[in-house]
Amino acid sequence: MPFHRLVDLVLALLMLLHGGEMLHANRESTVEDSFLPGAVWNDTDGQPIQAHGGQVQRMIVPDGAGGKTERYVWVGEDKRNGHTGNPVAVYTSDDLYHWSFQGDVLRSLETPEQMDSDPYFQALYGSCTAEEKADIFACIGQDKVMERPKMLYNAKNDNYVLWFHSDGSTEKNSYSYDVGMAGLAVSDSPFGPFRFVGRYRLSQCPPGQIDCYPTSKGEARDMNLFADDDGTGYIVYTSENNKTLYISRLNEDYTGLSGEEYGVDYVRIFPGAMREAPVLIKEDGRYYLMSSSTTGWASNEARVWSADRIMGRWRNDGNPCVGRGQGVSFDTQSTALFQAPNGRWIYGGDRWNSTNLSDSRYVWLPVTFENGKLQIHWEQEWTWEDGA
Ligand code: DGJ
Repeated sequence: MPFHRLVDLVLALLMLLHGGEMLHANRESTVEDSFLPGAVWNDTDGQPIQAHGGQVQRMIVPDGAGGKTERYVWVGEDKRNGHTGNPVAVYTSDDLYHWSFQGDVLRSLETPEQMDSDPYFQALYGSCTAEEKADIFACIGQDKVMERPKMLYNAKNDNYVLWFHSDGSTEKNSYSYDVGMAGLAVSDSPFGPFRFVGRYRLSQCPPGQIDCYPTSKGEARDMNLFADDDGTGYIVYTSENNKTLYISRLNEDYTGLSGEEYGVDYVRIFPGAMREAPVLIKEDGRYYLMSSSTTGWASNEARVWSADRIMGRWRNDGNPCVGRGQGVSFDTQSTALFQAPNGRWIYGGDRWNSTNLSDSRYVWLPVTFENGKLQIHWEQEWTWEDGA
C-alpha cells in the first residue's frame, strides 16, 4: 500500500476519534497526480511551492521556442523572506498537480544602490532619475509588504500586467500596513522580469454615500484581478480600512482605472461588512465574489455574493463552505477560483502559518454550483478528473 494511502487510513481513523481536527493533519509532501489539501506541496525541483496569496489561471505564455502556448500559471508571494520583501513567484503546469518554478519575477531591493550596481536591477531601473529611484526603493525595498500579486495578459499590448497589495510603514506610523496602496508592475513575459511602475490609491467613496473610513481615501489592500469575456479588466480590493470592497474597471492597458464615474467605472459593495481576500469569477453568465472576514492570518468564515452585472445589485449567497470546518473555511483564506481542463471549478485557499509564513499551506478543493450558489466541500485527497 502506498505510504500516503496508509496515512489517509490513519487520518480517517483519527477523524472518527477527533472530528474536525483532521483538517490540520500534517501530511508528507508529495508530487502526486492528485490534490492533498494542506500537505507540503513540492515543485518539480523538489522545493516547497512558494506562491501564497496567489492566483491560478490558464494563460498565454512563451513556448520556449520563440512562439506562444497556453499553460496554467500560478502567481504568488514567495515568503522565504518572511513577512516583508516577498518577491512575486511564478510557476507553470499543464495538469495542475506538477508545477515548475519559473522564477521570482518581481523582486524587491535590498539597497537603492542595486539599481546602479546589480545588472538585474540596472536593466530595469538604471535609466531612472535619482528621485524616481528613491521612490522605487521606498515602495519595493525589502522592508516593504508585497502581498496578493495577480497577473493579467493584455492582448492589446501583448504584455503582462501585475497588480499587488503594496504596503509598509510610514514616517507617521511603524505599522507595516500604513500605506494601503495598489502596486503595478509590467513585463513582456509572464516569467519576468517585471518592472515596478508605481503604487496608487484607487477609487473613492462618492459624494452622497457614507464613507466608512473618510480619513484615508482610496485605500487598496487585499486584491484580485478579473478579465471578463470581452477582455474588460477589473480590480477588486478591500478599501476604507478593510471595511468596504470595491470593484473598479481597468483601462484598456490594465495599467490604471477606466474613470471615476460611480456605477460605470466602479462600485462599492457591502459597506462596513469588513471583507478581504476577494476573488471574482464568472460562471454561466453570473458573477461570483468570494471573500473572507478580517482576522489577520487566522482563518474565518467565507462568504459569497453573486450578481448578474458587476456594477449591479449583489445578492448575499452566504457561506460557500459546507460541512465540518465550514465556520473557518476549512482553515483557509480565499485567494483563487479557477477551472480545470474539464471545466471543473477549483477553490484555492491559503492556510497561513503566522509563525512561519513560508510554511503556509495550500488547500485546493472542488467547487460546485448548486441552484446558482457556489459551494465548497472538504476532500482529503482528490483529482479534478474524478467526479466531474
Ligand atoms: C489578511 C490578509 O488577507 C493577508 O494577505 C495578510 O495581509 C494578513 N491579513 C496580515 O495579517
